[in-house]
Amino acid sequence: MGIVTTKEMFKKAREGKYAIGAFNVNNMEIIQAISDAVRETNSPVIMQVSSSAIKYARFPYLINMVKAASEETNVPIALHLDHGADFEICKTCIDNGFSSVMIDGSKYDFDENVALTKRVVDYAHDRGIVVEAELGKLSGIEDDVNVSEADSSYTNPEQALEFVQKTNCDSLAVAIGTSHGAYKFKGEPKLRFDVLDKITSLLPENYPLVLHGASSVIPEILEKCNKYGAEIPGAQGVPENILREAASRGICKVNVDTDIRLAMTAAIREMFALEPATFDPRKYMGAARDLISEIVKHKIINVFGSNDRA
Ligand code: G3H
Ligand code: 13P
Ligand code: ZN
Repeated sequence: MGIVTTKEMFKKAREGKYAIGAFNVNNMEIIQAISDAVRETNSPVIMQVSSSAIKYARFPYLINMVKAASEETNVPIALHLDHGADFEICKTCIDNGFSSVMIDGSKYDFDENVALTKRVVDYAHDRGIVVEAELGKLSGIEDDVNVSEADSSYTNPEQALEFVQKTNCDSLAVAIGTSHGAYKFKGEPKLRFDVLDKITSLLPENYPLVLHGASSVIPEILEKCNKYGAEIPGAQGVPENILREAASRGICKVNVDTDIRLAMTAAIREMFALEPATFDPRKYMGAARDLISEIVKHKIINVFGSNDRA
């Protein structure tokens, strides 16, 4: 099918009140795991790469592997830059086959964020590429940026409207209580749906909103990691019922990276523990690929509801 933009998939998702999974990809096995899952579930998907993913796997490898996935599967796949830090990285991605970029100006003040986002939007739209922006701050670790919990602030709904009007960005990541990584909540998991509702009521009808830091830290996977030697105690993600609720209230892109990392870790640790004689990377990377694929399928069918929407 080839790589597509997120325009059509977001429109359908918003209208149908379901969400599209945006999975971070860092290597071939992760890309293949997602490809297998979307082919089997007939679901559109976003494969996204961060600048650290580009640094690790290198640009041409990631682009060409995602292209291969989009040719092999017969479902819409978007290739997206996650947390683009400046105009230059967005430009490089736009010029080299990405269908979507995120410019993350959330660390700047409102006017600077508007100016930077608008510059990227103008460049991208001239070339038929879509842009995600971010307003408000997530607590925790964000790509190379460290935003302390004290600085975290929810998205201001009135500012969200002004931001979208001034920048013409195609989707907006909002801060409503999630954070990146495996430790999202100290007490009971809770998102600010009042803030989300206010944002959706002010923005144009069916405007696409994005939820970062949306891994669930699936208890069985975490347990498997820890059982086989990991030390990730007390990790907690966004429960699946809360994600379903978010999708029904206007979130149409759900970002997942941590759950993929945990699944890969669980599968490899288990094989190393149970089959210590194994040293063929195809065996343990293959086991990791299978488990990631199961997790992605589960999310598509039971949490996001994007199955059979390709
Ligand atoms: O939002 C952050 C993503 O999980 C990407 O993380 O910069 O370590 O690739 P990374
Ligand atoms: P998680 O750390 O919850 O997987 O979030 C990933 C993300 O938001 C990527 O941009
Ligand atoms: Zn993110």
